[in-house]
Amino acid sequence: MADKKHILCIGAGYVGGPTMAMIAAKCPDYTVTVADINEERIAAWNSDTLPIYEPGLDALVKQCRGKNLFFTADAISAIRDAYIIFVSVNTPTKRFGTGAGKAANLQYWERCARIIAENADGPRIVVEKSTLPVRAAEMIHKILQANSNGFEFHVLSNPEFLAEGTAIKDLENPDRVLIGSMRTPDGHEAMQTLVDIYARWVPREKILTTNVWSSEMSKLIANAMLAQRISSMNSVSALCERTGADVREVSRAVGMDSRIGAKFLRPGVGFGGSCFKKDILNLVYLCETYNLPEVAAYWEQVVKMNEYQERRFAERIVRSMFNTISGKNITMFGFAFKADTGDTRESPAIYIAKMLLEENANLTIYDPKALENAKKDLDGYENVRFCNDPYEAAKDAHAVAVVTEWQEFAEYDYRKIFSLMAKPAFIFDGRNILDHNALFELGFEVYPLGCQELTHLK
Ligand code: NAD
Ligand code: UDX
Repeated sequence: MADKKHILCIGAGYVGGPTMAMIAAKCPDYTVTVADINEERIAAWNSDTLPIYEPGLDALVKQCRGKNLFFTADAISAIRDAYIIFVSVNTPTKRFGTGAGKAANLQYWERCARIIAENADGPRIVVEKSTLPVRAAEMIHKILQANSNGFEFHVLSNPEFLAEGTAIKDLENPDRVLIGSMRTPDGHEAMQTLVDIYARWVPREKILTTNVWSSEMSKLIANAMLAQRISSMNSVSALCERTGADVREVSRAVGMDSRIGAKFLRPGVGFGGSCFKKDILNLVYLCETYNLPEVAAYWEQVVKMNEYQERRFAERIVRSMFNTISGKNITMFGFAFKADTGDTRESPAIYIAKMLLEENANLTIYDPKALENAKKDLDGYENVRFCNDPYEAAKDAHAVAVVTEWQEFAEYDYRKIFSLMAKPAFIFDGRNILDHNALFELGFEVYPLGCQELTHLK
């Protein structure tokens, strides 16, 4: 018989690993097992070098691992032992067949549902932790029941809102925990089981319970609206560069309206990460499926604006450097999709690097945590080197482009960097984290994002 105080999570990725480590830390009387088909990843979770970098994660894992937190490649035994089964496998954009390029690929999820149904020896609570299309729970429930040995499965939706780089902080003190359940007595009981777990550390008023479809929908809409704010400010940044307005000032002035709020109004080189684009396209596909083309087009524009912003940044580099970067050395500061992570999934840096390489530039890439992933992303490209030291990376560069908002980039000795670079020395601050006036005084040609350049070349 499964232990009601044993939790299994299938999928030991950016969400499964940190989320389960937090639950294990907050619920020492529960056993938490995290399973993955990727044996290398499991070995890393069991080692001193965890497979993902996340501030605070090492300490949390060390605190619980081997006590009530276990990582295994054997999901099947754990399915027999655990009563509550989270599934946090990847749900990437489908690349083939119907819905290719937009719909979520649910094949990994479906495989998990079948394995759970075939191996469970009694009823189970199955929790959607991955981000899924609306009404996925219906499909999952059908697959579970069709393959079960006569036992009942209760499907809950419990989407995760953590952001990478702040995952531990977000898990420890979430804005809200969302749990969607079927509106039946059994569904209610399953929901209460999950509420009781989160209530160990999350104030009850922050635990929101809804119907399953609202929960699934809310996750997609939260990501779409966050991305929409960024795309809105990125569109304004283009207009600011033409008009003489400064997007930082506009962002501040607009964000001080308490109805709008100041967060997520930072323009940049575009949003990256494994979620925003995928989830918006998933939403677009959903709208198309329900024959709502106007609604689909509205949300798709958020992604199109993002692609425009990435392209615009690369084009500004070429245009400013006398319309050619062929044979010139360009150093990219940053490759991760945001600061404090080594993750490069959908990083704007990938698209920008490829555009610069297509213009025959020689690229040097420095990133404090993402170099290994950068090497994989640019595998097969020539004229690119990866450097562990920012000063060495800047040596002989015609331009430095800041692509990720790592705090350390603002703290470098730019007098030294200027002296190492070819002249005129260009700097493109795609994240507006540098002191532009100070750089101009040092002699740089400075291109902040969303306002006019500071140049000695007029
Ligand atoms: P990930 O790719 O880092 O991890 C997914 C893991 O699932 C992989 O290690 C993979 O090997 C494993 N897996 C796939 N099929 C499996 C199977 N049949 N059995 C066992 N393991 C299997 O993905 P992630 O970033 O953790 O995201 C997981 C889900 O959470 C996605 O739906 C994503 O949209 C959502 N999400 C992600 C974030 C984020 O910041 N990364 C935040 C919120 C929600
Ligand atoms: C996002 C959501 O924030 C999180 O709630 C969800 O669970 C997963 O997707 P994540 O992608 O990890 O999290 O990071 P986030 O902080 O949202 O940043 C996404 C991208 O937007 C990054 O490339 C970041 O640099 C960019 N961004 C963010 C901006 O360009 N401007 C901003 O103002 C904020």
